[in-house]
Amino acid sequence: MRAIFLYFTGTGNTLRVCQALCEAWRARGHVGELVSVRADTPLPELGAFDRLIVAFPVHGFNAPAPLLNAIRALPAGEGQKAYLVRTSGEPLALNDAAALTPCKRLRARGYEPVGDFHYVMPYNIIFRHTDGMASRMWRVVAGRVAADAAQIESGEGNLPAVGVFSRAVSFVCRIEHVAMPVVGRGFRATEACVGCGLCEKRCPQGNITMHEGRPVFGKACVACMACSFGCPKDAVRIGVLNGWRVNGAYDFNAPSVADDEVCDYCKKSYLEYYHEQEETAEAEE
Ligand SMILES: Cc1cc2nc3c(=O)[nH]c(=O)nc-3n(C[C@H](O)[C@H](O)[C@H](O)COP(=O)(O)O)c2cc1C
Repeated sequence: MRAIFLYFTGTGNTLRVCQALCEAWRARGHVGELVSVRADTPLPELGAFDRLIVAFPVHGFNAPAPLLNAIRALPAGEGQKAYLVRTSGEPLALNDAAALTPCKRLRARGYEPVGDFHYVMPYNIIFRHTDGMASRMWRVVAGRVAADAAQIESGEGNLPAVGVFSRAVSFVCRIEHVAMPVVGRGFRATEACVGCGLCEKRCPQGNITMHEGRPVFGKACVACMACSFGCPKDAVRIGVLNGWRVNGAYDFNAPSVADDEVCDYCKKSYLEYYHEQEETAEAEE
């Protein structure tokens, strides 16, 4: 079988998960191809494929706009089964609402969305998880991908049931799609900027251009945080969102936190997520 892994990523979490899932898929003897969603690169000719995997970070309880647009640009489907892969900073049920619009768009293009995999990965905005938390999250992902790849192969799956409250919150938060191009105009580089141009290279929207050695931010920001998270000098300020800025890659190979090392804020929801996922992975072994 041949699967296309169509992904949008800002700071690499979704790509990392997608790569692991694609490897697990290939380990089952299938062909898997990763296709990136970037405004400066049109989707390649996809050819014939049996499964479609659509991967994205949850942004304000929704899928990011470039991913939704990329679904619209897909070739008409012929009923192929499709799976969502969502990464999010928090294991909240509210995040399930982010599956709704991609599923709707996939159906409209002739695909059959059947499954949804939600992986918690460290926050790239709001607050910084410790490396120990990031590595425990990664351990969960690594322990799950083989079973998830097997599920993609089987064609089985289940989509989350999303309640009225989650739908309403997600609907309101969709304002981000119109607000970010405006908010993104307020992004700036400080004096610490060395003009390396990494932000320009990494921006999936092609929204940053270097001018006289300084980044200039355009009108197409989708708040993916590739620029501020990835800046080696932590020189990017993200306008009104700056209090939530997170900078610098996580060390996924750090020793994972033990249960009693998880901070009080994270104790309830994250521990529940870890335990549930770890028990499922153990049972599947
Ligand atoms: C603008 C923005 C909004 C976000 N909204 C949510 C959210 O609603 N729920 C959540 O759990 N995480 C949220 N996150 C965290 C990301 O979903 C998470 O860190 C994700 O793994 C980032 O993936 P990426 O590295 O592929 O971009 C948000 C991140 C950004 C930048």
